[in-house]
Amino acid sequence: MTDKIKEYIGEAQSFTTDNKETLEAFRIKFLGSKGLLKDLFAEFKNVPNDQKKEFGQVINLLKVTAEDKVKTIQEALESKEVAGGVYGDLTRPGEPLVVGSRHPISIVKNQIVDIFSNIGFNVSEGPEIEDDWHNFTALNLPEYHPARDMQDTFFIQSNPDVLLRTHTSSVQVRYMEENKPPIRTISPGRVFRNEAVSSRSHCIFHQVEGLYIDQNVSFADLKQTLLYFTKEMFGKSKIRLRPSYFPFTEPSAEVDIYWGLKTETDYRITKGTGWLEIMGCGMVDPNVLNNCGIDANKYNGFAFGMGIERIAMLLYQIGDIRMFYENDVRFLEQFKSSI
Ligand code: DAH
Repeated sequence: MTDKIKEYIGEAQSFTTDNKETLEAFRIKFLGSKGLLKDLFAEFKNVPNDQKKEFGQVINLLKVTAEDKVKTIQEALESKEVAGGVYGDLTRPGEPLVVGSRHPISIVKNQIVDIFSNIGFNVSEGPEIEDDWHNFTALNLPEYHPARDMQDTFFIQSNPDVLLRTHTSSVQVRYMEENKPPIRTISPGRVFRNEAVSSRSHCIFHQVEGLYIDQNVSFADLKQTLLYFTKEMFGKSKIRLRPSYFPFTEPSAEVDIYWGLKTETDYRITKGTGWLEIMGCGMVDPNVLNNCGIDANKYNGFAFGMGIERIAMLLYQIGDIRMFYENDVRFLEQFKSSI
């Protein structure tokens, strides 16, 4: 008999449910007016005297176990009910909101656009699939011009007149064809070059082109504009313009900023010189103005072009250009911005 009761105790101990009806069935089975315990207590008088003590202890234990069980499960179910009310558990921590972040290329592009719009530049765009005229010829790069080799080109369907633009300078041409001076415009966009992909270069990247056309524009205006930009963008106020060559500008220059030599990284990225090249620029070649329907005797101006990836890599200390295109969320979610 006592063995049977011990089995009941085991059953009561291991009982569990999250359902009110099942709990009630359990209560009725053990504690109800026609339940097991009622029968067992009734049985008590038939138990031989020498076994009464042990029998009494086990049925008491069964009673306490069953009662405790009913009580704890009941409480758990009730608190769950309260928690599941109209608003749920108001003390529960909130669900984390997953806030997206802008791509670092967009962040840097927006910064550049912001800086130039503060001094009156508007934003213009052009197509990524271009024709020879807008990408090359109008920019003083006629067919067979050796400088075309500087930009390995993707052609579309073996038609040499349809290509993926190799630079955003093509937008200059389109803008000048459609607008009269004075012109102050910047053109951000994606460009394509048939180059091997490595940590430092990619076949797809982004540039921002700048164009300023008016009467009596001087090289000093260009330099001052770039100085303003580098101060705003990098907080650096020392730049130098090194003579260079681009077919669409004359004279042409490459712009270096003085980055400094404070850290080991500064040494590495500036190759120990402290100077970093950030863009190409120059006074728009009169041929280009004439090609685009602007009278070069009356108007002149300057242009510049820079790579966005290069600037983003500098600002965020990113060592491999390929990271921008892999869309690894662990990389992307590190960039937070207000623009
Ligand atoms: N288009 C040039 C390039 O892709 C960059 C550039 C250089 C643009 C000088 C300009 C400029 O407008 O004046 O490398």
